[in-house]
Amino acid sequence: MKEDITASFIAQYKKTPDHCHFAPGRANIIGEHTDYNEGFVLPFALEKGIWFAGSVNNTSVISIKAKDTDEYTEIDLDTLQSQNDYSWAKYFIQVLLALPNKNIRGAEICFGGNLPIGAGISSSSAIACGFTYLLDKLNSLMLSPKELVDTAGLAEQNHGVKGGIMDPFCIFNGKKDKAILLDCRNDAAELLPLELKNHKFYLINTNVKHHLLDTDYNNRRKQCDLAVSYINQYIKPISALRDLQITNLIELQSKLDDDVFRIVSFVVQENNRVLLAKEALTNHNFTWLGTLMYESHDGLSQMYRVSCDELDWLVNYTFNHDHILGARMMGGGFGGCTINLVNGDLGEDFQEK
Ligand code: GLA
Repeated sequence: MKEDITASFIAQYKKTPDHCHFAPGRANIIGEHTDYNEGFVLPFALEKGIWFAGSVNNTSVISIKAKDTDEYTEIDLDTLQSQNDYSWAKYFIQVLLALPNKNIRGAEICFGGNLPIGAGISSSSAIACGFTYLLDKLNSLMLSPKELVDTAGLAEQNHGVKGGIMDPFCIFNGKKDKAILLDCRNDAAELLPLELKNHKFYLINTNVKHHLLDTDYNNRRKQCDLAVSYINQYIKPISALRDLQITNLIELQSKLDDDVFRIVSFVVQENNRVLLAKEALTNHNFTWLGTLMYESHDGLSQMYRVSCDELDWLVNYTFNHDHILGARMMGGGFGGCTINLVNGDLGEDFQEK
């Protein structure tokens, strides 16, 4: 893959790139829609991802070739306008906007990889992170690890989806054979060994593509923020849903509208599940881990309502298969992949069906 991007760069610009970097996609074992509620997540980086090759030049233009779609555009660094209105080019512009007062030089860039788009495995974050990292190297910006994460995260937010920190943090900090237990309140991260014994995670793509901007994602986030203000003002001092415990839910039930209570309960329960999942994973209790994943899906589908028929169907379909210990929708929802915890292999028969 790296060779393909380098070759494509050479074909486009007739020279070899000075830098070539990889931005992985991410999977998430459990902890969905908890990051922007300052809660816990348990993601890991994938081997699939996006490569970025680049060299600086003495112009005030960044030329970008998207290898996979064979598209090309130029971004003028003085106006931050792109010649063509490709959706990926908007991420590049947002990254540049998130780096004000930095002396960014003109450059030639080529990128591409093997991450399916809109599948809930962070293809857009990989673009924002990969470009941020490449700019850092090309211009010797010496951004700190936190600045890298925050720059890519801000670019994504300004692109429109008010996501949390999980994706950029995982993309920049993922390590081979490790999951990251991340506390999204203070970015405290613990690397947990992914010792799966005979087990594997499988991602199954519904092929229902989504762009989170067209979904209820931002709305859900707004509903959480409104719930926090209400609870804080009338019930209990909190600054995020993360501050609530399972035991608080009894008191809240009679004081919140049903819809708000459903959303709040899901976030509180999901946070709790992440901490239990850490225990299950570190004790190699895969049956327990799988049960937590099924519970997570049930909450995302019935309480938080960010699933879709195809995701629900795929999860329900695993129920009659004893070697599948758990399954749930992954990422923002409304389409994309399920993540499945499988004892042994999924089997050709299952994959065929
Ligand atoms: C998207 C966002 C993340 C996170 C997940 C849901 O992937 O980018 O920040 O909120 O949805 O867990």
